[in-house]
Amino acid sequence: MIIRPRRLRRTPTIRDMVRETSLSVKDLIAPLFVKNGEGIRDEIPSMPGQYQFSVDTIVGETRELWSLGIPAVILFGIPDVKDALGSRSWADDGVVQQAVSAIKGEVPEMVVITDVCLCEYTDHGHCGVLKEGQVDNDATLKLLARQAVSHAKAGADIVAPSDMMDGRVAAIRDALDKEHYQDVGILSYAVKYASGFYGPFREAADSAPQFGDRAGYQMDPANALEALKEAELDMEEGADIIMVKPAIPYLDIINRVREITLLPLAAYNVSGEYALVKAADMKGWIDGKRVMMEMLISIKRAGADLILTYFAKEAALLLKP
Ligand code: PBG
Repeated sequence: MIIRPRRLRRTPTIRDMVRETSLSVKDLIAPLFVKNGEGIRDEIPSMPGQYQFSVDTIVGETRELWSLGIPAVILFGIPDVKDALGSRSWADDGVVQQAVSAIKGEVPEMVVITDVCLCEYTDHGHCGVLKEGQVDNDATLKLLARQAVSHAKAGADIVAPSDMMDGRVAAIRDALDKEHYQDVGILSYAVKYASGFYGPFREAADSAPQFGDRAGYQMDPANALEALKEAELDMEEGADIIMVKPAIPYLDIINRVREITLLPLAAYNVSGEYALVKAADMKGWIDGKRVMMEMLISIKRAGADLILTYFAKEAALLLKP
């Protein structure tokens, strides 16, 4: 007798009935870049279909994403001036702070998440402040906490630290609570690898380190147990959602973190993952939309609940009933 798994692949309806994983527009979080100015919508060369917006144009974009059913955006700021401490990152009139309050004013139901990090704001491009050429962990914590509080003050629903300093989730939680922002959540980039896949983002956010690299704070791509340790620490420190980043080259890590956490798990399908698909699609070498949907379902299958992805709008258009 032949065992026949093909019986359950015979028609689209049967395949639908036995499908194990689903992708919904509710799983998607759209990353957006914002800079000073007016009427700006500059396409990012290495990320076709992605833009740097000004505060006025980001509101319209967010409204459109909301109308497609996308529940959340994550904002990245590109300041006019950078300095050694990244002081524009916690300015009440900073570009992210302005964008948060504009979006919350116009599209109040949209969940607004803010990336908390110094690399876009420092003139040296590192994710923390420097002391004798090294990133000083504990001095950086105070500045991250200050940035998170300023985002909360502007109306952010969730802050998302991406700097990989030790102890930053606890420091941010503490500062938010002291300022009575106990209802503002923390989505922690708990497991963030030192990855070549961030290349296009650093062009988009103008945040490449001016010397050295990020290997002193981001994780070694060869490590998996360390990912579990990082996830556990952030859970203990009070993270509400934890994240693995990048996604596709680290599906095994998503799967292993899924097994040790009761928190919602997010994965960041990063700029390089997006750029690879777009470049090959533009050359006619792959079917970009098909590969996009396959990537997104793979991230869900690995165990992620939420996906931060530059494909959010494109996927939402395909998922529309
Ligand atoms: C740091 C940050 C980075 C990304 C998100 N937050 C870049 C880095 O660590 O250099 C990368 C996201 C992407 O590649 O899409 N603030």
